[in-house]
Amino acid sequence: MTLAERARRVIPGGVNSGQRSIPGLTDLVITRTQGSRFWDSTGREFTDYHAAFGPPLLGHNDPDVAAAVAAARASLSLTGVAVTEGEVLLAEQLAELVPSIEKVLLTSTGSEATFHALRLARAVTGRRLVVKFQGCYHGWHDAVSLNVISAPDRIGRPDPTSTGILPEVLDATLVLRFNDVEAVRRAFADHGDDIAAVILEPVPHNVGALLPTDDFLRTLREECTRAGSVLVFDEVITGFRHALGGYQEVAGIVPDLTTLGKAIANGAPVGALGGRADLMEHFSSRPGGPVFFAGTYNGHPDVVAAASATVRKLREEPVHEHVFRLGDRVRRELDALYRRLDVPVVVTGFGSVFVTYFMPGPAPRSYDDLLANDASRFVGYRRRLVEQGVFELPLNLKRSHLSYAHTDADVDRLLEATERAVGAMLADGGADDLRHTSTMGGARH
Ligand SMILES: Cc1ncc(COP(=O)(O)O)c(C=O)c1O
Repeated sequence: MTLAERARRVIPGGVNSGQRSIPGLTDLVITRTQGSRFWDSTGREFTDYHAAFGPPLLGHNDPDVAAAVAAARASLSLTGVAVTEGEVLLAEQLAELVPSIEKVLLTSTGSEATFHALRLARAVTGRRLVVKFQGCYHGWHDAVSLNVISAPDRIGRPDPTSTGILPEVLDATLVLRFNDVEAVRRAFADHGDDIAAVILEPVPHNVGALLPTDDFLRTLREECTRAGSVLVFDEVITGFRHALGGYQEVAGIVPDLTTLGKAIANGAPVGALGGRADLMEHFSSRPGGPVFFAGTYNGHPDVVAAASATVRKLREEPVHEHVFRLGDRVRRELDALYRRLDVPVVVTGFGSVFVTYFMPGPAPRSYDDLLANDASRFVGYRRRLVEQGVFELPLNLKRSHLSYAHTDADVDRLLEATERAVGAMLADGGADDLRHTSTMGGARH
């Protein structure tokens, strides 16, 4: 019996996340990672653009991060009491770097960070409603487990990603169209007194890349301020990846709370929630704070060491310069390639993140624009890419990432492999079976 078969006997579906079961790749077993690469149990090598959904901004097994973790491990393990110097230094750096962060708490995942952000918002405002946007993902917990990648007939009504969520919880989340200023104004006009929080990915990367308009972000800031609602930027993907200060630094809009994760520790299990001190002081980490906050592994020394080493490297080396240059090159040359092949696409993204939608332009601004994307082409060419050792996740609308470990030679290979993959995909008409290739929506309720 193969390892993958053994996995399926004892692990539901054979993988430890619903986002890892990929049609056509159910026998894949990963054995090694290094830099921009991973290897499987049959010895195949892949250039990794999936990047675990985003954490390894420096590349896999970054030597400086690994050395920092090893050094921490040699002297310190988890005690579950008080604080360590590493936690203080990391919090000081986050407060210095991220415009909205005055005080910050660490969690082990991004989902925990967004969970605590929303609970805090409800606690301080005494209000019920949370606003999210169609296409944004904020983790697996009930308040936000809806309307990510929705089928066309499920847009505009609650579309939970899971069964088992109480209807009254779904009812307490309003789902609006991203970049729709009028929809935001209307929601605040109708429900402003009851909106505890507005949460968004400032760039919704869970559906590839929808770039926000300045007007949209400014309107959110204005309406939240006016109504006394808490504006939460979920920068779990964009934090550190797009700038050390997150996308808020790029956009020049300061939210009340910010959630971080993924790239801030280059792959170690981390989340963080930070923001206005007057809000953060409500957490029970301060004696008497009424908003309960706990987590056995919060601030784990290994993770803190990984995050601190990541920050140091991002500050000292031209990481952003490198990944932004490669990202610009990938987007420019992919665009030229598809023009030459006469295949209508939109190649978009930001910095180190890129995605090709198989649809005519202009660049999409909201999830419903993405309904024009041809999923069978999107998934079909990626399946062909994987066959050539270039790993872009063959799931609909998923983005790809570059790291500091990727080189121009990797990009050369990506472009060559893309040309062959698209040619093969056009010849066979794309993926004909799209079952389980859109993984964030459509649970029956
Ligand atoms: C924007 C965003 N927020 C929150 C999360 C949840 O983070 P985690 O998977 O670490 O719980 C994710 C995960 O993909 C994410 O992309």
